[in-house]
Amino acid sequence: MLATDQFLKFDISWDEDYRNRVNPELITELMHRCVPACKECNWQVTKVEEGYAETLLPLNRATTNQHGTHQAALISLSADYTGGMAIVSLLRGVPMAGIHKCSTKEAASLWLAAMNVKYKAPSTGHLIGRCRISPEDREKIVTRYAQGKRVLVTLPVTFESNGELVAEAEMTYFCQPAIQLLEPGKKTSTLFNQKIKASARMIAGVRAKAYFTENGRNYRVDSSHTEIAAGPQGALLAEKLNRALPQLVDMVQARTQHGEELIRSIPGLRQVVNMGAGLDMRPFQLHAVLPEVVHFDLDLPEMLEERNRIAEMLPNSTAVKRVSIPADFLQDAVDKLLLRHGFNPSLPTAIIFEGCSMYFDRTINRRMLDAFAILLQHPDSRLWIDYVSESVFNGKTQIPEVQEFLARMDDLGEAFVFGCDDHRSMGAASRLELVESLTVKDFYQRKGKPSTDPVLDQYAFCVFRAADMT
Ligand SMILES: C[S@@+](CC[C@H](N)C(=O)[O-])C[C@H]1O[C@@H](n2cnc3c(N)ncnc32)[C@H](O)[C@@H]1O
Repeated sequence: MLATDQFLKFDISWDEDYRNRVNPELITELMHRCVPACKECNWQVTKVEEGYAETLLPLNRATTNQHGTHQAALISLSADYTGGMAIVSLLRGVPMAGIHKCSTKEAASLWLAAMNVKYKAPSTGHLIGRCRISPEDREKIVTRYAQGKRVLVTLPVTFESNGELVAEAEMTYFCQPAIQLLEPGKKTSTLFNQKIKASARMIAGVRAKAYFTENGRNYRVDSSHTEIAAGPQGALLAEKLNRALPQLVDMVQARTQHGEELIRSIPGLRQVVNMGAGLDMRPFQLHAVLPEVVHFDLDLPEMLEERNRIAEMLPNSTAVKRVSIPADFLQDAVDKLLLRHGFNPSLPTAIIFEGCSMYFDRTINRRMLDAFAILLQHPDSRLWIDYVSESVFNGKTQIPEVQEFLARMDDLGEAFVFGCDDHRSMGAASRLELVESLTVKDFYQRKGKPSTDPVLDQYAFCVFRAADMT
């Protein structure tokens, strides 16, 4: 086995790793939190050694009924996590995405690619699952992972009840440092595709809860657009995140309304740029009031594919003037991309960079602002951005709901890496002049709904224009 490597941490001893990362009590607790079915069944990890895991699927009301398929499905579930746990035991010091609290930079991604389970006999008692990884496979897993290569491995998992073999499974897994799924320029994996769609769906799910009417104006002309975009997964994720941060719906509602007020306030508006458009259905909802406006939607190609798939399901999709521009903000010059796709910087324009700044580091944020400044050549053109406060991203807010929300975002693999308090200086560095900056609390105060909730101070909306406009 390798002693040193790039992705594993062999400076941590097995005893320490066992204590802090993979001991059965801890893993069982984490699994119960992440996989409600495991909690319902009281499924447990009972023993972990390097390259070995033992689990218990108890015989109880949740795990049995008269149908064999019910039990068979749970045996498969247990087989997946038993084999997975054996792999996890070998990844010294590495947290598992979706299980341990961690950021994408440090985590491992593990997913089941195939399984073959043979049910040998009906189970009549508690089921003990076991997976012992052979020395050859151990070597392969550790060596490949350490070198940052994708691991593909098939592991045997057996199930025994009252001393009798009940089932035998062959479980095939992929495993890889999670960061590699995000590397710019690399063809993205199925797993990453699902992940980016999940975060955009979650926001669509929150927004579907947040549509509203004010002074006779519908800020979401037809909320069904947003519901279609979110789908059941978005609704579920939104519920989960909103449980962690009950203010989330109000915050997203405020951001939606403020951005929309800006768009509607620009005289003779001709273009809207949706940076990181995700599943924001604003172009379709605005069509009724701004039919001539051209919408430039930029996002990762996989996300745009999903966006366009959903757009086709909407009744007015073909009437909306839209230009989809695949972009990777980590490496592309978005000003050049837009100019190549027919964007005219001298027309009145709104650039919306919504729900994105917190996921990119300062350098990328700065580069995006530099590009926006080039695009805002008309005196009425404006840029809208939302920022979380610096204390949110550096974990210093001490507000429990915010901490819980950030932990859930980490689970989604969407850690916040940037926050900004000095909006004026942030813009000035890119030749942008701050026109307005207000927190969610200010926003609701202005709307005649004052609040003393400190969470609402942690999220702000900014409007900029190009600095040298008179
Ligand atoms: C939280 S979503 C916000 C979506 C949308 N603006 C909204 O408010 O509903 C963040 C968006 O940023 C996009 N994104 C993430 N990384 C990106 C990158 N490197 N380049 C371009 N877009 C990216 C995601 O695909 C996703 O659609």
